[in-house]
Amino acid sequence: MKVFVTRRIPEPGLELLKKEHEIEVFPYDRIPTKDEIIEGLKGKDGLLCLLTDPIDRDVIFSEPNLKMIASYAVGYDNIDIKAAMERNIPVSNTPGVLTDATAEMAWALLFSVARRTVEGDKFTRAGKFKGWAPMLMMGQDVSNKTLGVIGAGRIGTAFALKSKGFNMNVLYVNDRINETLERELGVKKVDLPEALKKSDYISLHVPLNKSTHHMIGEKELKMMKKTAVLINTSRGPIVDEKALVKALKEKWIFGAGLDVYEHEPTISKELTKLENVIIQPHSASATIETRTKMATMAAENMLVGLKGEIPPNCVNPEIFQ
Ligand code: DGY
Repeated sequence: MKVFVTRRIPEPGLELLKKEHEIEVFPYDRIPTKDEIIEGLKGKDGLLCLLTDPIDRDVIFSEPNLKMIASYAVGYDNIDIKAAMERNIPVSNTPGVLTDATAEMAWALLFSVARRTVEGDKFTRAGKFKGWAPMLMMGQDVSNKTLGVIGAGRIGTAFALKSKGFNMNVLYVNDRINETLERELGVKKVDLPEALKKSDYISLHVPLNKSTHHMIGEKELKMMKKTAVLINTSRGPIVDEKALVKALKEKWIFGAGLDVYEHEPTISKELTKLENVIIQPHSASATIETRTKMATMAAENMLVGLKGEIPPNCVNPEIFQ
């Protein structure tokens, strides 16, 4: 069969696909447009796509041979699952393999904002360091503080568990009780306003959907402590970016660490000018090990799906019932 891959991914994934199928990889190192995806998909049986690809109804219905969509990401808010279901096309993602890498990035951002490491690096490189000073680059403590984890799925849980060494008081917000967190950390589930009001650090780990879009806006940012830090490694539109810029400019909170943006890849110009925010290029899962595992996992899903069987990480298994 034939598979269209919307961008070059780590070689082990492509090698796996090549063993059984003919593959065509989008030839440029950039995000393909919707038209380019539709063009590349012509005559293909499988689509291996990325989180940056708009896999909407038009794309899904464009190729009658299409039998399987494997995404190289855990989040699949870019794929119209309803349209895929109408066509009985399985869609798969890559859960689990990027849990630790993403949780680690959330911690990297948390520490960097709390201890102003990016600002400190720029300051030192600029030759401004004139010796130890009593009030230079003062940040916020992390140990013994309160950590608010919003969304306690795989990544939120891993992130919260990694706080053990810092003796933090953890609060979590989730639809259901998270027994692992309650057992391991002795913590309790709270509602969003309580977490926002009491936490020194808030980290977002919810998927993007109608109920989480702009979950953090002006009202929520105003509930946070003046010394609090907001971390987002989930999806940009969960935070109202305009409200966040206002909060950072007017110092309603101490700072923010962001890996994702509301209108990716566009980032608010104002955000890039502020010192109290650290911004990353949506790279939370970008370690060699993790990205390689994501590539092989997406390929394995594709191979099984193209056999007409249920892929191991199918997000719409209902179509097989
Ligand atoms: C995902 O897989 O959804 C992540 O955002 C990739 O970094």
